[in-house]
Amino acid sequence: MKALTPLRMAMVGGGPGAFIGPVHRMAAELDGRIRLVAGSFSRDAARNAEAGRMWGIDQDRTYGDWRTMLAAEAARPDGARLVAVVTPNDTHFAISAAALDAGLHVMSDKPATLNLAQALDLARKVEASGNAYGLTYVYTGYPMVREAREIVRRGDLGAVRKIVVEYAQGWLSRPIERDGDRQAGWRNDPAQAGVGGCIADIGVHAFNIAEFVSGVRVERLCADVASVVPGRVLDDDCNMLLRFEGGVRGVLIASQISAGARNGLQIKVYGENGCVSWSHDRPVELALDLLDAPSQILHAASGYLSAPARARVRIPTGHPEGFIEAFANLYADMADAISAGRTDPTPVPGIADGLRGMAFVERAVAASRDGEGWVSLDGVGL
Ligand SMILES: NC(=O)c1ccc[n+]([C@@H]2O[C@H](COP(=O)([O-])OP(=O)(O)OC[C@H]3O[C@@H](n4cnc5c(N)ncnc54)[C@H](O)[C@@H]3O)[C@@H](O)[C@H]2O)c1
Repeated sequence: MKALTPLRMAMVGGGPGAFIGPVHRMAAELDGRIRLVAGSFSRDAARNAEAGRMWGIDQDRTYGDWRTMLAAEAARPDGARLVAVVTPNDTHFAISAAALDAGLHVMSDKPATLNLAQALDLARKVEASGNAYGLTYVYTGYPMVREAREIVRRGDLGAVRKIVVEYAQGWLSRPIERDGDRQAGWRNDPAQAGVGGCIADIGVHAFNIAEFVSGVRVERLCADVASVVPGRVLDDDCNMLLRFEGGVRGVLIASQISAGARNGLQIKVYGENGCVSWSHDRPVELALDLLDAPSQILHAASGYLSAPARARVRIPTGHPEGFIEAFANLYADMADAISAGRTDPTPVPGIADGLRGMAFVERAVAASRDGEGWVSLDGVGL
């Protein structure tokens, strides 16, 4: 049998001290399907070189800027075919668009772009490019989130009535962006983050997982998007009511001033007959509570789960897989799509999800600021 050749990947961002770039590298390479061969990891030459050295990248493929990298890699017969975009939000559009123009596939971190106008441009570009574009809404990569989606899709809960999603963090409870915290710094600078702080950073994850698990899309929302820490430029606490297709009601909370919370993402989907709940604190479990029946806890990697939930596990039940593996699942799905010549990376979220996320951010921030009450997500080419 012929050995599979790993898909060659380049990365933009992820230099020493970065949060998510190293996670992407580990995840992409976890299953041996993808290999990082090139990168432009930092604008700082010394840090860029250090990342390349640490990750075993040839010196001539550790590039000082991403434009040079894309041109050089696209021209090499053994060049990268997939580009991971793991820089702050303001650069996502330019890098993704240029990578697609160079004939490369893209795996971008969220939010898709800095603003909705860029997301619309990018959607047109993805469509015209014939390449795959995936977006790492990582929580959709957890097997038990996929199981929750299957339970809803199969109709086990009956018609969906209500969705409650909360993403609570506490790390911005103090104004650490003013004390030189790099990650808090760019996240609170509108030029680098966009019009949304917390809402663009984690609110989009909550929005995406609600639509992913429930299978229904948000049509309208009523948002209170606030900056609680005095003097903070962008929002750090968002509370909103949602109205989904078919009259389904929902509540979404995204907060980075929930002091004491770590990375508390949880979702509950209630149907006519019961509820399915998933919490990031116990990601290998899924609670299923049906009317007039004892509570059940389903466990990842169990034979009784649906095929989509069983497809991406590596070890027997009881051995926890987590955040890096969820990212790895998205990369494995992306590798499958690319090797099959599919431009639609499903089940990896794509540009349509990116567009919806940007519409969500812009509409909610503007409506909250202007006291508009309920606003629609229609009319943005979704
Ligand atoms: N999916 C998730 O769960 C998740 C989690 C964290 C962050 N993110 C997203 O990932 C992105 C990065 O976030 P982070 O927390 O890792 O930020 P970070 O500040 O820790 O890292 C950003 C990295 O990009 C590098 N960089 C910036 N501009 C560059 C350029 N022009 N060329 C090359 N390198 C450049 C920086 O040097 C740094 O190494 C953000 O868009 C963020 O929203 C997603």
